[in-house]
This record gives sequence, C-alpha cells and structure tokens, in this order.
Amino acid sequence: MSVAELGQTNSQNDTPFVEFWNDVLAPKFIRFKHVLVDGLTRHSDAIFPNLPVRHGDRVLDVGCGFGDTAIKLADIVGPDGSVVGIDCCDAFLDYARRDAAARGIKNASFERGDAEIALPSRDFDFVFARFGTMFFANPVAGLRNMRSALRPGGRMVHIVWRNRVDNPWLSMAKDVVLRFLPEPGDDALTCGPGPFSMSNEDTVRKMMEVAGYEDIRFERVDAPVLVGNDVRDAIEFQLAIGPAGEVFREAGEEANEKRGVIEAALADAISKQAKADGGIVMDSSSWVISARNPLN
Ligand SMILES: C[S@@+](CC[C@H](N)C(=O)[O-])C[C@H]1O[C@@H](n2cnc3c(N)ncnc32)[C@H](O)[C@@H]1O
Repeated sequence: MSVAELGQTNSQNDTPFVEFWNDVLAPKFIRFKHVLVDGLTRHSDAIFPNLPVRHGDRVLDVGCGFGDTAIKLADIVGPDGSVVGIDCCDAFLDYARRDAAARGIKNASFERGDAEIALPSRDFDFVFARFGTMFFANPVAGLRNMRSALRPGGRMVHIVWRNRVDNPWLSMAKDVVLRFLPEPGDDALTCGPGPFSMSNEDTVRKMMEVAGYEDIRFERVDAPVLVGNDVRDAIEFQLAIGPAGEVFREAGEEANEKRGVIEAALADAISKQAKADGGIVMDSSSWVISARNPLN
C-alpha cells in the first residue's frame, strides 16, 4: 500500500481506539504538548545518538504524534534521505506538518494511518516508534506491519515504558486518585491497552518473534521526565492524561465532586518531587527495543 492510498482509506474505518485518540485525547495532548514533547525528549536525547540510522536512509516513524522525532530523524538522514511520519490522529499530524514547514524541513512528510491495519510497504531502512506501540490492541499485527515496511535486513527501534514501579511519573498520581475514586471498569473507554502493556520483556520478546523479527535486544533507559511547569500544571496534567486521568474521567460526576480533595492530595505528593529549572521532574524508565527484519 502506498502512502497516498493509506491516507485515503484509513480515515473512514476508524476503530474505537482511533476515534478515542481523535475525539478525547487529542485536545488534552495539545493542551499539555509542552509536557509531552519536552518531557519525553529527555528520553530521545539519551537514545538518538545511538539509533541505527544513517545519512540517506528512508525512515518510517510510527505513531509520530506532534512530529518532533520525525523532524529530528529528517535532520539525521539529511537531504538524500526521507522520513514518513504516520499517526492515527489528525490534529497531531496538523501540528507535525506545520512544525516541519516552519523549520524548512523538506524531507519529512506526515500521513494518517492505523499501524495495526496497514503501513506503507516501502522499503524503509529504519522504522521507529516512541511510546506508540504500547497502544496497539493487537500488538503482533502492528509489529508485523512495522516489519513488513522494512527492507530485508532493515532495522527497527521502539521505545516503551517499563514497569509501574520504575515509572512514578505515571503510577504515583493514579495511586493517589484511587484513594478517592474506583478503578475503571472493564467497559472503560480507552485508547488501547495502555502505557505498561509492553513492560514485560519476555512477553514483548515473544510478540516480536511471532511478528517475524530477529536480533531482538532490550536496553533499559532511566531518565527524568518533566511532568509540569509547576505543581498546578502537574496536577492538571495528571488528571487529564495517563492512568490517573483515566480513573478521573471514568468516575464522571463523582470525580468532579471530589476534585478539591483529590487535587489537595496530588499537590501534597507532587510538591515532594524534584524541582528543576523550568518545571517538576519525576523518574521514568523505558525499554529501548531494537530488532532486525531478516534478510530472507
Ligand atoms: C503517547 S503518543 C507518542 C507520540 C510520539 N511518538 C511521541 O513520542 O511524542 C502515542 C501516539 O501513537 C498514536 N497511535 C496510537 N495508536 C496508533 C495506531 N494504531 N496507529 C497509528 N498511530 C497510533 C497516537 O495518535 C499518538 O500520537
């Protein structure tokens, strides 16, 4: 499937997860773009210098979000290379296209697509995904589509969160909120399995094997992430996005009634976190998972 065909077909066949990204999460992600992009960039900064990507490569960035990693990759591959950013969310793609144009980036393009259904079958040298694959409801299908996008021998890297314990920036606020509100039920509306769905190395290694990869390697990366410009910003971020945000959203009216007491408890917990220039930072931990598409 070509990139052009991908853009034309997928918009009419959205899964409930893709609808959730577009209708519910996009406005929240845009509001907290400063946290999500600046915060997560601390991970990329540690990882980017070692990515197996070279001048002239053709690169696919899956779940590219606001496009910042695609733009960095476009810089690395230079004018002889190219980057295609794929995301299922229209609003993020608009940002990515505008940002690339504003920076005069000519070798990056952005297309709408659902990676679980299809990806462009170009012979990409490198496929990348930062914190996108954990949301695949059918991870083997998504990972296989990413492999099929690679040329024989091409490499992929995807970055996913490790366990809850080593990611207090996501788990601590949920623990606080659960002191006041119930766990979401099985019928909760979500954007997919969630941030910790790929935290188990053995399970993900098996998924990658079934998806047809070889030379599968896991590297642990610990890095602080920004969770807000100040305590107020961090509270609002946690109640809007991520596991705490899901508990809060699903609790509906009960959450609004208890907002005051929940915010006070969060303020207490967040105030104890480290302050850095320009915001509040908390510990996080991810897997950088690399693999290769077999030669034949
Ligand atoms: C947590 S965000 C990460 C965005 C970006 N990679 C970053 O690191 O800033 C996850 C992204 O994956 C996208 N996404 C989720 N499921 C997807 C799917 N099935 N196909 C394509 N994109 C998907 C979402 O729209 C969102 O932009």
